[in-house]
Amino acid sequence: MTELTSQEQATLDAIAAATSLDALEEQRVAALGKKGWVSLALKTLGQMSPDERKEAAPAIQAVRAKVADALDARKAALEAEALEAQLASETIDLTLPAPDMPKGSIHPVSQVMDELAEIFADLGFAVATGPEIEDDWHNFTALNMDENHPARAMHDTFYFPDAAPDGGQMLLRTHTSPVQIRSMKDQGAPIRLIAPGRVYRSDSDATHTPMFHQVEGLVVDKGIHLGHLKWTLETFFKAFFEREDIVLRLRPSYFPFTEPSVEVDVGYSNEGDRRVVGGHGDDDGHDWMELGGSGMVNRRVLEMAGVDPDEFQGFAFGLGIDRIAMLKYGMNDLRAFFDGDPRWLAHYGFSPYDQPTLSAGVGARP
Ligand code: PHE
Repeated sequence: MTELTSQEQATLDAIAAATSLDALEEQRVAALGKKGWVSLALKTLGQMSPDERKEAAPAIQAVRAKVADALDARKAALEAEALEAQLASETIDLTLPAPDMPKGSIHPVSQVMDELAEIFADLGFAVATGPEIEDDWHNFTALNMDENHPARAMHDTFYFPDAAPDGGQMLLRTHTSPVQIRSMKDQGAPIRLIAPGRVYRSDSDATHTPMFHQVEGLVVDKGIHLGHLKWTLETFFKAFFEREDIVLRLRPSYFPFTEPSVEVDVGYSNEGDRRVVGGHGDDDGHDWMELGGSGMVNRRVLEMAGVDPDEFQGFAFGLGIDRIAMLKYGMNDLRAFFDGDPRWLAHYGFSPYDQPTLSAGVGARP
């Protein structure tokens, strides 16, 4: 029995001193394993007399329980220590700047579309969309250009070879104006929307690409007049270019779907090799850039879209998004917009964190 007590003490000491799970396992095998000293002691019970056994059995079982408990406790402690160490070694400092990795960017056209939506939302305009594959009726006829209208020829239209189910021609929309028709037919009047998107014309040089972007604007309500159009354009451009000294020039013009029609130019000057709008007098180095067309919606267009022209009037405008992007962010070749060159995108693109908001500014610089 005394031998058992000293063995027990030695084992408990060794367990307490164990610094690894392996060392602990060694102690377990030496004590409780098949040939461990506790197991051997238990085997001796068989050769004892009943009286001896009565006394020895509980003592040996008590030693066994003590050793097993000590092993469990030490094991739990060692595992907790290991976890602590692992957590300490895997700490991440979230305040460190992210490593410099190649990253994508937001294309200036996308950025400007977000800026447009932000500014016009503040003026109560919703954002509408329409199909890029359009039919003849929405793109032309409903906009007061019937089949023989000469203005159709101005649009360098891409036509599809197959006719639409209703017999009309399908085409790539040449402007965003068909969204006026679709929206009025869907929602009726009053209505206040912008419709940004891609448009297509068979045309290509430094300032024209076969695909480009427009934003359509449409307001239809009672008592709308040209003054509302002028105020809206001026308010928009001041917010967009983030300066008060914007000079707009409205020129009489012609579109079949507006009457009267007004072309919108903005004054700009060259500062260095950048085009900068506003802030110039009549000195040299300043010029006008045409940004789009506008006017009062033609009565015939309201009628064809199901709106009563005796009750409602409207104004509409169509602006070239790529052009206003070039003016704001200083690019001078439109074709580079669509080359997908990562160097151009890295230079002119925007961070995804650069969300245009009226509170933080819609004029983030790349
Ligand atoms: N749709 C015309 C174009 O692309 C622009 C425009 C829109 C003019 C709305 C007047 C009113 O040339």
